[in-house]
Amino acid sequence: MDQQLAEGLARQALLFLDNATFRAAQKDHALHVEGLVKEFTERELTWPEHIDNVVALCMRIAGVLELPDDKRELLRRAAIVHDIGLLDFPKVDIGPVGGPVDHVGRGAARLEQMPLWAEVAPIVRDHHERMDGSGPLGLSGFALGLPARILALAEYIETVTNPASPWNTRSAAQVVAELQDPKDQRFDQRVVAAFLAGVPGAG
Ligand SMILES: [Fe+2]
Ligand SMILES: [Fe+2]
Repeated sequence: MDQQLAEGLARQALLFLDNATFRAAQKDHALHVEGLVKEFTERELTWPEHIDNVVALCMRIAGVLELPDDKRELLRRAAIVHDIGLLDFPKVDIGPVGGPVDHVGRGAARLEQMPLWAEVAPIVRDHHERMDGSGPLGLSGFALGLPARILALAEYIETVTNPASPWNTRSAAQVVAELQDPKDQRFDQRVVAAFLAGVPGAG
């Protein structure tokens, strides 16, 4: 059995929660997160469709990599809330480069407070990290989990290619060429290959 699932069940047993109570708590957390996402969308803390595009791209890469369903679901949830830490900043502070430095830490801290979302927190915390250690926390290589490595690439591609993004600096062809360059070691090469496999003429 998946270790996280086993731990979840053990915790549930420890708290003597019957299934109905547990499901109600789960619904509370879902509603809480829904409220945060609604506020995030209403305040327009990112350009339109950033989150949807990142979720879709993550799912496409996860499909190519044949991630098991539980990992895929974890990644999907992380992608939905990956920039939720921006809620802690006034919109005017977002930019010009990369957004407020600690929106990843703030986002992870918020999620850690919610037991049913805590497992997503490390992915959110690591989504600006790079395989070569050039990210803000300096984590590198396989210290980063696969979901975080997928989210990092998906967010990067969306951010630099979406004309609505303030960091739109690349055409689609340029970002493909950049990722195909063997000198570029910022991202997990297996994840890059999975992304390129879905790009006509690049795989
Ligand atoms: Fe983002
Ligand atoms: Fe981000």
